[in-house]
Amino acid sequence: MSEDIRRRLAELESASLEGGGKERIDRQHKAGKLTARERLDLFLDPGSFEEVDRLMMHRSHDFGMEKQRVPGDGVLTGFGRIEGRGVAVFAQDFTVFGGSLSEAHAEKVCKIMDLALKFGVPIVGLNDSGGARIQEGVVSLGGYADIFLRNTIASGVVPQISAILGPCAGGAVYSPAITDFVFMTKATSYMFVTGPEVIKTVTHEDVTMERLGGASTHSQISGVAHFACEDDADALGGIRRLLGFLPLNNAADPPVRGTADPPDREDEALDRLIPEDSNRPYDIKELVRAVGDDGDFLEVHAHFARNIVVGFVRLAGRPVGVVANQPAHLAGVLDINASVKGARFVRFCDAFNVPLLILEDVPGFLPGVEQEHGGIIKHGAKLLYALAEATVPKITVITRKAYGGAYCVMGSKHIRTDFNFAYPTAEIAVMGPQGAVNILYKREIETAAEPEKRRAELVREYTSKFANPLVAAERGFVDAVIRPRTTRRRVITALQLSVNKRDWMPSKKHGNIPL
Ligand code: HXC
Repeated sequence: MSEDIRRRLAELESASLEGGGKERIDRQHKAGKLTARERLDLFLDPGSFEEVDRLMMHRSHDFGMEKQRVPGDGVLTGFGRIEGRGVAVFAQDFTVFGGSLSEAHAEKVCKIMDLALKFGVPIVGLNDSGGARIQEGVVSLGGYADIFLRNTIASGVVPQISAILGPCAGGAVYSPAITDFVFMTKATSYMFVTGPEVIKTVTHEDVTMERLGGASTHSQISGVAHFACEDDADALGGIRRLLGFLPLNNAADPPVRGTADPPDREDEALDRLIPEDSNRPYDIKELVRAVGDDGDFLEVHAHFARNIVVGFVRLAGRPVGVVANQPAHLAGVLDINASVKGARFVRFCDAFNVPLLILEDVPGFLPGVEQEHGGIIKHGAKLLYALAEATVPKITVITRKAYGGAYCVMGSKHIRTDFNFAYPTAEIAVMGPQGAVNILYKREIETAAEPEKRRAELVREYTSKFANPLVAAERGFVDAVIRPRTTRRRVITALQLSVNKRDWMPSKKHGNIPL
């Protein structure tokens, strides 16, 4: 190598390490954020980062840009390892032109996305950007669209995860929105299509960035973010943990991990989990933790639509997606948000060969004008569609209520669930005893000598006839009535039996899930 090239290369490499310079790096730290390189150091297995396009730069000559060229152009891209498994990453560098997206910046991101698809590895994006590079105009907008296209093509082929670690505004939000999981950091990140200033002009609403599009808002109200993290390190650790449950791509199986937790472990406390009074709440997460290996449960979307719980456990080392009604919140009713949350999670698991465990205790769909006008019909249909369409192993345990349409939706045998278990406390019927008796025996109760006594008698009669698992078991809609303490063993056996399951869908371009 000539001395000149050696010198120029060294200068460029050092410039790429310096990013936007000490002052901007200090500002980044003061804002509670790490730099792109610090983030990658924390995120990837030590020494595993293989950087690509470190010397790439923008080609803009407008607005004096020809004099401001930083190698890497505001984004680090490449490949690395998480617990030894491959991953493609890009990390926007806010210290260089505010991490804004130029033509070159977009090309770098697109290149590793294309390679990730060919290599079959997940794509993780660490977003921290002022959006489209203003100096580049439409070229930058085109760069975003190039990324959106790749997000769409990669959807269902390799897992895609977005961390929002700073600003993410305007059309830029649509790349994370297409990806499978969105992590946000509290107080240092925000996402919105239009910011507070524009909102004030258009609708006269006064709102802070945090309330409009901070981590709490998106993890609790809009559901855009699946995880709200304390800071960068928390978010990066969270993504590492999540990746540990996921296969590298849709042609691979999820990673199996050894465990000392016996597959036939019984939990006697589960026999007392479901309260005698069927209207009393209990926490379904106790069951999830008791069934999973080592009590380990990675909850997804923990703060959004808490009436349904979704997340990952391992069963005998194998990752499984859990979808569970939560009686401790709104009695576990299915509403619009719960349906959408459940449906998207189910579709992710089905796309990536993650078997599903459905824990059912659902009084039905939430009644009300707001829900009907909000489209509970089409949103509820999403969950039904997703569970019916899924061809991964599906195992349902009815712990208590399985009423009405919600019975059909929550992994009933009729939508090709492989194993359906029910606890002795299961109540499977068109509706609850009170409602049913009021409709069927309205006149008889009204004209009875002692209406309340007669109502109570009829409720007892209905409960003993219908609000139990025996009718469903008689029909084979439930394969076995099991003791709660044996749930782990029964579910693991079912999973082991169905692990090589093959199911089919007729050939089609794609279905038309009700959006
Ligand atoms: C070029 C940008 C930039 C941008 C920030 N910078 N955003 N440069 N294009 N979009 C530069 C600044 O000039 C500054 O450079 C450095 O990044 C840091 O910015 P500051 O403003 O000093 O930082 P801060 O006070 O933290 O504010 C961050 C910010 C603000 C809120 C993101 O910079 C901002 O509002 N930027 C514009 C955001 C925007 O409107 N983007 C377009 C959105 S539309 P120096 O040299 O001083 O360090 C969009 C469409 C996508 O993105 C379309 C997809 C279809």
